[in-house]
Amino acid sequence: MSVLNGKKILLGISGGIAAYKTASLVRLFIKAGAHVQVIMTPASKDFITPLTLSTLSKNPVYSSFYNQDDENEKWNNHVELALWADLMIIAPATANTVSKMANGTCDNLLIAAYLSAKCPVYFAPAMDLDMYKHPSTLANFTFLKQFGNTIIPAESGELASGLSGEGRMAEPEHIVAFITDDLNSKLPLKGKKILITAGPTYEAIDPVRFIGNHSSGKMGFDIASSAANLGASVILISGPTNCTVSNPLIHVIPVVSAEEMYLACHQFYADVDAVVAAAAVADYRPKHVAQQKIKKAATNFVIELEKTKDILASLGLLKKNQFLIGFALETENEIENAKLKIQKKNLDLIVLNSLQDEGAGFGKATNKVTFIDKFFHIESMELKSKEAVAADILNKIMMHFGMQR
Ligand code: CTP
Repeated sequence: MSVLNGKKILLGISGGIAAYKTASLVRLFIKAGAHVQVIMTPASKDFITPLTLSTLSKNPVYSSFYNQDDENEKWNNHVELALWADLMIIAPATANTVSKMANGTCDNLLIAAYLSAKCPVYFAPAMDLDMYKHPSTLANFTFLKQFGNTIIPAESGELASGLSGEGRMAEPEHIVAFITDDLNSKLPLKGKKILITAGPTYEAIDPVRFIGNHSSGKMGFDIASSAANLGASVILISGPTNCTVSNPLIHVIPVVSAEEMYLACHQFYADVDAVVAAAAVADYRPKHVAQQKIKKAATNFVIELEKTKDILASLGLLKKNQFLIGFALETENEIENAKLKIQKKNLDLIVLNSLQDEGAGFGKATNKVTFIDKFFHIESMELKSKEAVAADILNKIMMHFGMQR
């Protein structure tokens, strides 16, 4: 999934021939899952029509402070537009618009929105080669960079003037790639490795039967997506589930039994910064696995079970700097049992699920959890979607690393 997915992008278009390329730019943003609103300077409307951009962005396009066609709602609120945006991109940014941005010359809606924006601002200059190299333009670029804006450098090639050189607006694909790379490089968990266990384990009885549980794996997979969306590299060790991943930062290691999960966890553990054990690992497995299918015979049939290894406890024993998060599924004496698990497994945090809470547990889209840390601070959360619980867990991990979302 692109880092632009779900982002609100305010695209400012100023009046240069490269404006015609913004139709492709809007399409690429939308394709990446972004929401786009467009502000045009009056001059840019000579190069591309508002209708094209409103059709592609599926939103009204703004270009003046007043909306003459609308009797009731006359004012186009530049502050609202600016505060709506997660990102503002000015493309093409002509020499004139760059100068206005640098000097705060607020004579159109685009500059008014730019001056009101609190989000990151990117600008993609487009002008003739001598204008691009002119000391006043370069000084304006320096100003804008000092303000914290990011320049998407112009490219070289044939220019509208007939001359050839640097000054062409970066191609729409390059603008999208530039912003994507830039946002990815700034993700808060970039460089962190997180190991996550998910799903049930299946413990074989014979070649066709097993002991398992109802875990869907959704909670662990949602945590993995959340972590990867924040830039972490994720090792997701999962028992059999129907869940899938889309983020390339998630490396799935499929396992079946508790023993396989144990071995996979230990293979990666030394190298990771945090662990979230969301798997519902079988506590017992058949002591003897029949090599052939067991035939029906006596009235009663007894399977002798032996304990599986406690994966999380074994990781707790070897803990160096890893931030260790476990889950506890309880039906009675929840808090006391969860506290005991923190101590027994040497955890930093436990996510307690109570099956007494309606909407919590296996196979549900929602979960109601209580966080208990190793100092026994307790924080009870509302009933939320599993995605929102995953986001809360990632917030805890970020707080541990001294970061904020
Ligand atoms: N866990 C594990 N390995 C096991 C059993 C559990 O890694 N063999 C992990 C789970 O992934 C979870 C935590 O330990 O993060 C607690 O699991 P839970 O089933 O609630 O607790 P148990 O330790 O199995 O204790 P009990 O079943 O007696 O409550």
